[in-house]
Amino acid sequence: MSQNIKDVEHYFIQPDLKAAKRRGKEKVQVLDFEQIPEDMRGVGAGKKYMIRTYGCQMNVHDSETIAGMLEQMGYEETEEERQADVILFNTCAIRENAEDKVFGGIGRMKNLKLENPDLILGVCGCMSQEEAVVNRILQKHQHVDLIFGTHNIHRVPHLLRNALLSKEMVIEVWSKEGDIVENIPKVRQDGLKAWVNIMYGCDKFCTYCIVPYTRGKERSRRPQDVLDEVRHLARLGYQEVTLLGQNVNAYGKDFSDISYTFGDLMDEVRQIGIPRVRFTTSHPRDFDNHLIDVLAKGGNLVEHIHLPAQSGNTQILKMMARKYTREKYLDLVERMKAAIPNVVLTTDIIVGFPGETDEQFEDTLSLMREVEYDSAFTFIYSPREGTPAAKMKDDIPMEVKKERLQRLNRLQEEISLRKNQALQGHVVEVLVEGESKKNEEVLSGRTRSNKLVNFVAPKSLIGKMTYVKITTPKTWSLDGEWVGEVEALHG
Ligand code: SAH
Ligand code: SF4
Ligand code: F3S
Repeated sequence: MSQNIKDVEHYFIQPDLKAAKRRGKEKVQVLDFEQIPEDMRGVGAGKKYMIRTYGCQMNVHDSETIAGMLEQMGYEETEEERQADVILFNTCAIRENAEDKVFGGIGRMKNLKLENPDLILGVCGCMSQEEAVVNRILQKHQHVDLIFGTHNIHRVPHLLRNALLSKEMVIEVWSKEGDIVENIPKVRQDGLKAWVNIMYGCDKFCTYCIVPYTRGKERSRRPQDVLDEVRHLARLGYQEVTLLGQNVNAYGKDFSDISYTFGDLMDEVRQIGIPRVRFTTSHPRDFDNHLIDVLAKGGNLVEHIHLPAQSGNTQILKMMARKYTREKYLDLVERMKAAIPNVVLTTDIIVGFPGETDEQFEDTLSLMREVEYDSAFTFIYSPREGTPAAKMKDDIPMEVKKERLQRLNRLQEEISLRKNQALQGHVVEVLVEGESKKNEEVLSGRTRSNKLVNFVAPKSLIGKMTYVKITTPKTWSLDGEWVGEVEALHG
């Protein structure tokens, strides 16, 4: 195997959070994936890989891309660690407990590596973009063979070649704004539902958040590339696509040659024959009326909007640099509720931001009551090194933060149950995903608003759209009776 100059140059490149923060004016390059290098084709024949994925849907989809390249090199997937020749940890840096889990996992690999010295152990994803993480791996986890970041996923074949050849740890983490690389092979994990990136990166720099440092600047895929991918998935028989971005509402803002927004994109995706289209995540700040009008057209655009609030208090929102007030957020919610029939709203909330008082927390509870989310992801604030909030004075004891989280969760559970009870007796459209995890006699699927429904029906319905009458609503799921192919009375 030959090693070219480029590979040697990139051999030991460590992350640099300061450099990652810079937002240059250079044009984003849209590159085409260069095929798998000749000497790497077939390298994986008879060998197996395993990817452990942490974090958000972006990471889940990145893992599908990494799997695509590995399979083109001949590797096959395994779920058995001991059978794997390559194990990659695709990591998440969003909170400390996410990082702890990864370090626990990497630590456990030490024995496996002793048993099988030829095993290639790699770490990629958002944690690799952090200096402190790479230093810790260098100091304490010398059994890691390869570290690469979020900007050079397309270099997996080259990096793997280096890792196979080298006795030293191979590190290639680029701290840059990022490009777009099209046509990387993918192996999608699910034959029904597909993830589709529409943009990468984030420029919002919410003061608590590490993502703008780990994922580079906001950059949108060209509309044609997104639409072609969705059309292709429709032809393959996919029932659902989820359009992905850290802030999908900023889609198109970086185009210099055309004026084209997320609303425009959704209006075109609406006309593609794929039964369901979702998107995540939307930042309230860039959510415009045009988009609301397009979503109100319904059809395959489902009436579910994930709209992270983070806090219900304007002062805290200001300290978070969310760039909206409580009133603006509520006004947006009102416009959505007025325009989109039966719209279901879900959210993300952080409790215990530095200095958050009891009164300020009460505002978050009251926001939750006022909006009536169907569900919420709730988190205790976790300081992230290098972010502005990590330097803010925080005198709120952890016990208080935990108590707040519990109160918030209890309130959300009450609201979720009430919302689900309102569906009692209604017929809902369900995309049948498979047997229920708890009982193989029961099928489970999702409503348009992404609620889990369990019901008894023939297995032949798996992978299809059907209708179910809700009989027993619960807090986290709905039990129902299959009614077959009747018209839905209610989405
Ligand atoms: N781009 C998305 C959020 C991605 S991160 C958005 O802005 O809506 C997912 C969620 O993790 C965030 O919405 C936030 O609630 C939470 N989060 C991010 N950083 C955090 C931190 N430092 N501590 C606790 N929760 C955090
Ligand atoms: Fe993080 Fe804010 Fe960007 Fe979301 S919008 S990824 S919370 S910086
Ligand atoms: Fe985590 Fe990175 Fe996603 S930090 S939440 S995996 S963008």
